[in-house]
Amino acid sequence: MKQGHVSKQDFVLENEIRKRLTPARFCHVLAVRDCAVRLAGRHGGSKEEAELAGILHDYARDLPEAELLRLGEEEGLITCEVERQVPLLLHGPVGARLVRRELGINDPRVLEAISLHTLGSPGMGRLAKIIYIADMIAEGRSFPGLAELRRKAFESLPEALLLGFASTIRYCLESGRLIHPQTIAAWNYFLREGKEF
Ligand SMILES: [Fe+2]
Repeated sequence: MKQGHVSKQDFVLENEIRKRLTPARFCHVLAVRDCAVRLAGRHGGSKEEAELAGILHDYARDLPEAELLRLGEEEGLITCEVERQVPLLLHGPVGARLVRRELGINDPRVLEAISLHTLGSPGMGRLAKIIYIADMIAEGRSFPGLAELRRKAFESLPEALLLGFASTIRYCLESGRLIHPQTIAAWNYFLREGKEF
C-alpha cells in the first residue's frame, strides 16, 4: 500500500476515475483498491497491479444501460441472452475495453481482473480472483455471510472464491434474478479444480 505519498500518475488516474463515477461509487472503488492490495499482500502477486485493477474495476459501472449494451454489441462482448436482459452485467468486459482504449492500460492480468470481476470465469487468474473477492468484501458492503467471506478471504483464496460464487448464485435464486451461466461454469470449474470429474 502507498505510504505517505501519491505519485502524479496515481493522482491523474484517480481524478479520471472520480469524474466518471458517482461519489459513492468512487468511495467503493477506493475501498476495493485498498482491500485488493491487502489481499495481494496475503496471497502473492503484484500489489501495483492489484491497486490498478482495484481502482479501475468499475470504470464502466456508471454508464447508462443502453450505452453498455451498445458497446457490448459493438465490441462483440455479448456471450448470452442474460446480458441483453441485464446490461449491467456487461460493465466488467466493457470497462476492460475502455480502459485499454482510453487509458492505454495493456497489462493482461489487470484487464482480465476488470473484465471478470462481476461474473467470474473458469480458469480466472490470481489477480482476477483477488478483485472478485475484494469487490465483495470491501468496506461498505453488507450481505448475509459477509463476515465469513471476509475471514475466509485472508485464509484461503480458492475457498473464498467458492464462497463468493455461492453467495452470488444464492442471491440470484432467492431474489428471483437471472443467473449468468459463466458464474455457474466458474463454480463448477473451481469446485472441481485439481480433481477429476
Ligand atoms: Fe463492478
